[in-house]
Amino acid sequence: MNKVIGTAVNRKDGWAKVTGTATYAAEHQIPGLVHGYLVTASIANGQIKSIDTSAAEKAIGVIDVFMHKNLPKVFTPANDFMTSKIYEARLPLSDDKIHYAGQIIGLVVADTFERARDAAHLVKVEYISQKPVVEAAKATFKEAPPQFGQELKFEKGNFAAGVASATTKLTATYKTATEMHAAMEPHAIIAHWQDANSLTVYEPSQWVSASQRTYAQLFGLPTEQVRVVTPFLGGAFGSKVFPWPHGILCAAAARELQRPLRVVLSRRQMTANTGHRSETEQTIRLGATTDGCLTAIAHEVKSYTSPVDVFTEGCTSVTPTMYTAPNLQLKQELGVLNIGTPTFMRAPGENPGMWALESAMDELAWMLKIDPVELRLKNQTKEHQRKGQPFSAKHFADCLLLGAEQFGWKDRPKQPRSLTRDGKLVGWGMAAATYPGLRAKASVKVRLLADGTAHVLTAGNDMGTGAYTVVAATAADALGLSVQQIHVELGDSLLPDGGMAGGSMMTASLVPAVMSTCEQVLKTANAKTAQEAFATLNQSGRAAFEGTASSAPSDEAKKWAFQSWGAHFCEISIDEEIGRLQVTRWVSVMDIGRVINSKTAASQVRGGVIMGIGQALMEECHLDPNMGYPVVYDLATYHVPAHADIPRIQVAFVGEPDLNFNPAGVRGVGEIGITGVSAAIANAVYHATGKRIRDLPITPDKLL
Ligand code: MOS
Repeated sequence: MNKVIGTAVNRKDGWAKVTGTATYAAEHQIPGLVHGYLVTASIANGQIKSIDTSAAEKAIGVIDVFMHKNLPKVFTPANDFMTSKIYEARLPLSDDKIHYAGQIIGLVVADTFERARDAAHLVKVEYISQKPVVEAAKATFKEAPPQFGQELKFEKGNFAAGVASATTKLTATYKTATEMHAAMEPHAIIAHWQDANSLTVYEPSQWVSASQRTYAQLFGLPTEQVRVVTPFLGGAFGSKVFPWPHGILCAAAARELQRPLRVVLSRRQMTANTGHRSETEQTIRLGATTDGCLTAIAHEVKSYTSPVDVFTEGCTSVTPTMYTAPNLQLKQELGVLNIGTPTFMRAPGENPGMWALESAMDELAWMLKIDPVELRLKNQTKEHQRKGQPFSAKHFADCLLLGAEQFGWKDRPKQPRSLTRDGKLVGWGMAAATYPGLRAKASVKVRLLADGTAHVLTAGNDMGTGAYTVVAATAADALGLSVQQIHVELGDSLLPDGGMAGGSMMTASLVPAVMSTCEQVLKTANAKTAQEAFATLNQSGRAAFEGTASSAPSDEAKKWAFQSWGAHFCEISIDEEIGRLQVTRWVSVMDIGRVINSKTAASQVRGGVIMGIGQALMEECHLDPNMGYPVVYDLATYHVPAHADIPRIQVAFVGEPDLNFNPAGVRGVGEIGITGVSAAIANAVYHATGKRIRDLPITPDKLL
């Protein structure tokens, strides 16, 4: 009886967003609001020798100046991923040490933003400075610790023996650059203490319930004394799940002052203090027989973290999921640099991991003279080689075959430099995409009202991905109503915990919870459809039927490995005289289980492809090796794709439900779209030019 699920539904929040009535964190109007501006370090390594705040304190409108000597008490939270976590383990202003350029060292509070900013520049700081280490080659490395409870190193069989038995061998090293999340909405927070022990936070958060628990622990309060409100986010990409130092500092200062306090970060401040994707260096070694069967795969990865927290770009996580080989060896090292703390960024690990692996598979296909689609079909694995479990509802082959057909892959001229158009070289490339199927416990409240509407309420967040619409579509089908009759409220920690808008799991977590809660409320109403329940309400004069329920992964599901799959096919053109590369055609086919909203799902894939084109062609953040400062610091210096860089992106879905995963059979689509994109482009560059580029981004100088 699904009438809405699977169709193309317009965004429930679209109208509010395009008319400017959607309220973002910094836009909340609170009477008596005062403004904070961060003071940041001008060195990248060392110590504060002296601070003189006298001029700042005397400046017009200044209310207070907080530096490490007078920071109010903040407690260290449990810092466990699923309960409460801060992004950077070192609490802000906890001592006089400087670990990276732009590190927060103070906060000036004034009656206006401009006065706070002006006074922040009047704070005089003297440092004892040491030369920072910001170059990857100079880092000291250690073995990367397990991530989310999973070891990143792995060994199966004997790699050396596997390579020895191969007739075709490849060793290649691939690099990715430091990348910024660059969300449209900057990081910002309003902290409002109703009294010394009750806090309301307005902050972009991908998981208000976890943020609520974390702020409660930071200030030694019971969880229910904190409320986090995030009805809308203007993009997040992994950088807005947990509190960052500026948020902790803002809330601490606001408690001290007992005034609502707002802190908005500049783009430059965000570069150091709100995460990034670490650069990586990855060596892939492959061995294969002449007919294209892999005998051995090794994947060795280096990524980098800050001196004050440990975050690994876990690239080796994808390797055991993609291609089977009797001998498999994974290693991951972590280097420490004087840079801000890195964090999750759309397909953390999977994305750079697939850049390396899918580039290497293409190189191997050329060496073997085997079609790269065929090489992938031949070596795909039925089981997750690390977990030793079979994949549930895997339709990777359909993605490859359907994509090849839609793109016209079989007509591909087989030699590099054989395709030209208007005096430019043309190349075709393809690569696979993948991302794990994740899901967490989610709780939802449903209320049927006598006015003929249904309200669906959960703390779960929509970070621009389409959660409002997916929740409404699911409830519409479950209750037999139209999408217009469903009112959805999200992103308030007063509501039941809906889980994290991260790990591509919001849809897979929320949809089953919405389904079962709707079912339960109908049962309470003794009705088959909402219409019947509305009739009962009208006859009895009762105001509403209401229920709250949860859905969580079952034990049965532990038998399976859940993973989504995809394939990208692209065409590029290159003007060799000026090194100009243009992406001219794109086809993506995804197997993400059942598709709930074909419109927002396709938009997620397109967004991922666009972000992947940015990674492939332009996104990078170098640090000055002497000063340790990022040489990019805003949306003018950090280049992301513009409309002129993007072709029409054709998206199709396999659509087979994964019913082992959840009763709706849906896996999620937020991150998979970006994986494999940069490899597909580099593979097309090879086809166009005969040049193999192993170092991202593929800037014009590399194509001359
Ligand atoms: Mo995503 S990087 O889990 O927001």
